[in-house]
Amino acid sequence: MIIEPRMRGFICLTAHPVGCAQNVKNQIEYVKSKGKIDGPKNVLVIGASTGFGLASRITAAYGAGAATIGVYFEKEPKEGKTASPGWYNTAAFETQAQADGLYAKSINGDAFSDEVKQQTINLIKADLGQIDLVIYSLASPVRTNPKTGVLHRSTLKPIGSVFTDKTVDFHTGVVSNVSIEPANEEEIANTVAVMGGEDWEMWMDDLKAAGVLAEGATTVAYSYIGPEVTEAVYRKGTIGRAKDHLEATAFTISDKLADIKGKAYVSVNKALVTQASSAIPVIPLYISLLYKIMKEKGIHEGCIEQMQRLFSDRLYKGGNPPVDDKGRIRVDDWEMREDVQSQIKELWKDATEETLPKIGDLAGYKHDFLNLFGFDVAGVDYQADVNEMVEMPGLQ
Ligand code: NAD
Ligand code: NA
Repeated sequence: MIIEPRMRGFICLTAHPVGCAQNVKNQIEYVKSKGKIDGPKNVLVIGASTGFGLASRITAAYGAGAATIGVYFEKEPKEGKTASPGWYNTAAFETQAQADGLYAKSINGDAFSDEVKQQTINLIKADLGQIDLVIYSLASPVRTNPKTGVLHRSTLKPIGSVFTDKTVDFHTGVVSNVSIEPANEEEIANTVAVMGGEDWEMWMDDLKAAGVLAEGATTVAYSYIGPEVTEAVYRKGTIGRAKDHLEATAFTISDKLADIKGKAYVSVNKALVTQASSAIPVIPLYISLLYKIMKEKGIHEGCIEQMQRLFSDRLYKGGNPPVDDKGRIRVDDWEMREDVQSQIKELWKDATEETLPKIGDLAGYKHDFLNLFGFDVAGVDYQADVNEMVEMPGLQ
């Protein structure tokens, strides 16, 4: 079939298998071009199909030659109906990795469930014995707690007072004001239950109890801080509470892993266009200004550049990774640079529908958004008839 983007709000309903495969190839080539990393051998990536998780998996495999197991929640293709992008990304990765002699298998299911955790443990036992790195990169709006059966829904709201600021609809370029009512205690608790550290800790408890963590195993989860302009909706809002909890959980897990000399870290990553971040008000406006400035300064990075740097310059540089005063690894260092952020503050005041195309990188935002779904990828013939029924070679 000929596949075109079909937008509905912040999501795209279709995905292009060839475009997704090309994105994965480009990421593999990037990692190879940066040379070998003396890194992990057997890696589990939870949230492995898109964004930072996919980039982590590619870096582990092609930077360090690691065997990888990926866990994700993606829609498979049906005749005449495309799969979700993470399906095509993972199929492309596993096809290439297996052709290159790298172990690459995956589990498609709800990572929050006990069943998927058990299935993953069984696969590690059968094929790898033990793992030495666990990447935790889930982004989800809902979670069913497997112990209580309660379904929690996250919200993206400020805490304490109404938040009003500018935002942009990146499809149309229209800049408008948004007002968001503050969250109540229940909404805060639900967001923490979905995006906080509880599930990460459950994973690490189960993996350890099953004896599948190697001595000295490392686990890393991803967080975000960001600037003042997004603070009310992000870091000081409901999602920020969840990130506080996630960051605190790193210490809890490190304590629990002490007897096997294991360690849990949070890495604070840069703001990037992903399916998750596009749904957060104000963030797309911030990202379009940020992209413009970072590109002008020659310090712009995508997911793969971020994760390659995380592995080569932080986690596996030799010795303990450098951390900030709260114990966090920082690869948002270039985003948070004083010269970058002072420029953002200035531009923020001037951002209107008229000025944004000039002072911000809306085109780059749109391009990256389409790219998430395999569209607008250089070298891909979008007029060509393609097969939507792509198989997943490593699927268990
Ligand atoms: P993403 O949406 O690209 O990836 C989410 C992954 O989780 C996918 O692989 C998806 O299949 C998987 N997933 C979702 N629900 C699942 C479930 N129930 N079971 C199994 N798999 C499931 O998101 P991302 O932007 O790469 O975010 C990953 C992490 O990085 C998040 O913690 C996010 O907060 C953090 N982060 C994101 C940014 C950003 O700007 N995008 C910046 C810093 C940190
Ligand atoms: Na991810």
